[in-house]
Amino acid sequence: MGATDADRSTNADCLEGIKSVIAGGVSSSMRAAAVPVPLVVRSADGCLLRDVEDSELVDFNMGYGPHIFGYGDRDVRDAVADQFTRGHMTGLPHELDAEAGALVAELVPGVEQVRFANSGTEAVASTLRLARVTTGRSLVVTFEGHYHGWSETILRAGKTSLQVQGTRPTDVVPGAPGMIPGALAHTAQLPWNDAEAVRDFFTRNGDQVAAVILEPVLANAGVLPPAPGFLQLLRDLTARSGAMLVFDEVITGFRVARGGAQERYGVEPDLTVLSKVMGGGFPVAAFGGRRAAMRMLATNEAHHAGVYAGNHAALRAVVAMLGKIRALPGLYDELEAVGAHAEDSLRELFATENRPVHINRVGTLMSVALVKRPLERADDVRDLAAAIDFSQHRRFQTLAQKEGVYFHPNALEPWFLSTAHTRDILDKAAGALRRALAGLG
Ligand SMILES: Cc1ncc(COP(=O)(O)O)c(C=O)c1O
Repeated sequence: MGATDADRSTNADCLEGIKSVIAGGVSSSMRAAAVPVPLVVRSADGCLLRDVEDSELVDFNMGYGPHIFGYGDRDVRDAVADQFTRGHMTGLPHELDAEAGALVAELVPGVEQVRFANSGTEAVASTLRLARVTTGRSLVVTFEGHYHGWSETILRAGKTSLQVQGTRPTDVVPGAPGMIPGALAHTAQLPWNDAEAVRDFFTRNGDQVAAVILEPVLANAGVLPPAPGFLQLLRDLTARSGAMLVFDEVITGFRVARGGAQERYGVEPDLTVLSKVMGGGFPVAAFGGRRAAMRMLATNEAHHAGVYAGNHAALRAVVAMLGKIRALPGLYDELEAVGAHAEDSLRELFATENRPVHINRVGTLMSVALVKRPLERADDVRDLAAAIDFSQHRRFQTLAQKEGVYFHPNALEPWFLSTAHTRDILDKAAGALRRALAGLG
């Protein structure tokens, strides 16, 4: 028998109880590293978490990115609740499909048609299959540190490999034990923001490339924006060689601009993958492009499936979320202001505490990492990873959590801000972070 609810009064006890029935205590291996000090959530509202010990924490991880309006947005919540009274899953086309698809197509520059899926991983896997069947080629080019989900042909060692001495940016290292040998044989990896490496690769292999896939802002490792001209270079090289350019906008979509990174940087990919913000916390993803790029799905020559793909509850969330985004013309200015305030107050805090830190920010997407030495700028994730003091950052995270601020303990993981991160809350968080830094000694 496990402990009763009454026994589980502390985070540690509660986590032990969870571990007795959930392998490792979490339902995602990615999450295993996220709780060095046990934290078990009871509720979340705005940008605040409440744990089972009844402590309140300001959250900068925000569920890994879906909540630009904070947790528990009423419009989305009420819409989905209503959908549950009308039948939320039939496995048949629904009038919501047209509404949700039209909103994505209206807001995202490179999208005329979409398919919905349940997760970013599924949507990426289907996108790459579509690119392969469309081009008749197999090779997929990825970039170091970029994450595209955990499916068999794309999961490479990402953040962890950056800390492994001796690997080169071009080494494709499987991301998990038990992957089929050769699962990544059709994958090449290039260093991020290295125009020369990309040009050279395309000169030698361009005619074999089915797709180039990337996070247009490298959000998953250091929030590294594209170097000036880099996205356009990828656009030109893929167009010239007959390959498809795929922007994985699972994080950046509807976050760094209304139309995502493709709008912010003015480069249109052939295919776009979306999730997170689009569903406001409900499990939904999409991939899409212009009609020509989606043709083989339209003719059923490409395969994409899923019982729950595009279920009516998820699409109701999409309609509520994107409808709200469309109705708020000043939203991205407001988000930019939240990001700027957070960045300014953190820079001031680390400066007055005399702690070297590296901060990158694109809108409400931010990277904050304690470093061994000040770093002018980093275009490349390897330079950034070499400068980061990972163990000190982890200690900082532990102390911050005790002071009432939660962020991911891996220094390469992004911080996510929302309209719920008001100035008052950010100032309160800065006070807690100051105490945590002082505690580092
Ligand atoms: C850029 C990117 N692509 C794909 C994925 C995979 O999405 P999911 O975890 O929903 O499968 C993620 C997840 O964080 C992501 O950040």
